[in-house]
Amino acid sequence: MTGASSATAKRLTRLISRIIAVKRVSVFCMDDALQVADVRPSIPVEIIPIEPSNVHRVADFRQETNHVAIFRRMLAEGERGVYALVDQKVAGHAWARLSTKEPFLYEGYLDVPPGHALVHYCNVKDTLRGKGIYPTMLTALCQCLFSECSVRMILIDSGTRNLASIRGILKAGFVHRADILCIRACGRRLNIHRGRTRTGS
Ligand SMILES: CC(C)(COP(=O)(O)OP(=O)(O)OC[C@H]1O[C@@H](n2cnc3c(N)ncnc32)[C@H](O)[C@@H]1OP(=O)(O)O)[C@@H](O)C(=O)NCCC(=O)NCCS
Repeated sequence: MTGASSATAKRLTRLISRIIAVKRVSVFCMDDALQVADVRPSIPVEIIPIEPSNVHRVADFRQETNHVAIFRRMLAEGERGVYALVDQKVAGHAWARLSTKEPFLYEGYLDVPPGHALVHYCNVKDTLRGKGIYPTMLTALCQCLFSECSVRMILIDSGTRNLASIRGILKAGFVHRADILCIRACGRRLNIHRGRTRTGS
């Protein structure tokens, strides 16, 4: 393909994705602290809670957007987060949004009822991937959610093709609960659920 035709193809793809977008996600859950796996990373990793005093440290490995401002807002909204430290530097983060009194709809496709938490916004420094940092963060976060936040169920989702994420989620002790096909077309949404995505059902 020539440069001009590949640019046209990219523009066309962008245009089509504005009109119709299809996303497939898998949902996993954990409803008991005993389900939290005993994960051992292959390098020394320290897990610390994200707090107003250390939120700026995300810049150790992520500078591409204003994560400090985003993380401050998430803390202000009551989210719980953890950092993974490797050699005293932040090398990963994971967050959980809690549903306390009001349920919320995550990304337009996943109901999160009161008493549940949704783990999201996780990332590991690319040069340190494949060493078990992600499941180590997930297990620490889940322990905290069960013991400190009285959460009854923890949900997490992943694109069905994000195999690295799915591997980490399963290693942390989550079990597969459902798959959702999310179709967005002309401003409307259609979510096709396979499995149990309405918790409690
Ligand atoms: C998904 C992600 C958080 C996993 O973090 P991680 O600390 O590398 O997780 P793990 O060490 O458990 O590795 C998970 C799987 O990644 C794959 N993997 C192994 N080495 C890898 C490497 N060098 N680079 C990328 N992936 C690798 C393996 O399949 C591994 O599973 P296995 O150890 O059972 O073979 C990380 O890849 C990432 O930040 N991705 C971009 C953001 C994202 O997708 N976030 C998750 C959705 S919120």
